[in-house]
Amino acid sequence: MGKGVALALAGAGADLVLHYNSSVGAAEDTAEEARSLGADVELRRADLSDPASIATLLEKPADILVNSAAGFPSDRLVDVSLDQWNRTLALNLTAPVFLTQAFARALPADRSGAVVNVTDWKTERPYRDPRFSYTIAKGGIDTFTKAAASELAPRIRVNAVALGVILPPADAEEGYAERLASQTPLERVGGVEVVAEAVLHFIRNDFITGEIQRLNGGAHLR
Ligand SMILES: NC(=O)c1ccc[n+]([C@@H]2O[C@H](COP(=O)([O-])OP(=O)(O)OC[C@H]3O[C@@H](n4cnc5c(N)ncnc54)[C@H](OP(=O)(O)O)[C@@H]3O)[C@@H](O)[C@H]2O)c1
Repeated sequence: MGKGVALALAGAGADLVLHYNSSVGAAEDTAEEARSLGADVELRRADLSDPASIATLLEKPADILVNSAAGFPSDRLVDVSLDQWNRTLALNLTAPVFLTQAFARALPADRSGAVVNVTDWKTERPYRDPRFSYTIAKGGIDTFTKAAASELAPRIRVNAVALGVILPPADAEEGYAERLASQTPLERVGGVEVVAEAVLHFIRNDFITGEIQRLNGGAHLR
């Protein structure tokens, strides 16, 4: 998802600070592709489960922040360990919060900015399958999006995309995403273009803030 959104931003004329953690090769390839679209690209590695790494990502002012990186661990309320809970919350909630703080602090007073968070529409109807700490962290992102939009207005707008079946998770077996998507009204996997388009829309339309846009093929109607 990060690659798709980064290339859409590059295609729309943005320069990028492209973050990765473990996927150095994929990040370098994406940086090359973005450069071929005319973008100036800086690559930065950071483990976002370590709050200290956040400061290294946003040393210079930026106009746009997309908080997409996240983990998708399996756990349930009855068996989640404190360590797992802390790790998921650190990566999926604390990192976006403090990246947004760093973004807001770095933005010069005469500039406006846009933040787009990535959440999951299932926070409306929490998972019965075992994604407990993930779902709670994404629920925090929903509330954070509205609280930040309120606090940072009028200079910085904050919105979120709430995703359904967009891409199969890295560890999914063959046909997993298609099977899930077949139960939704639009009966298909979204694909990263759907997300990239919504992110660009939130960035371009400067009368939208505090919105959480479902991109889920109508799954909430079922
Ligand atoms: N795929 C879907 O259909 C779907 C559905 C609902 C919500 N979402 C949300 O969409 C966003 C993107 O999902 P995706 O499908 O692109 O997931 P993904 O393929 O698993 O990618 C996750 C990204 O997060 C980064 N990341 C993981 N652990 C990290 C850490 N400790 N520090 C820094 N970065 C870390 C990874 O970087 P490295 O590879 O460099 O380590 C990777 O770029 C997430 O917020 C996810 O919750 C996705």
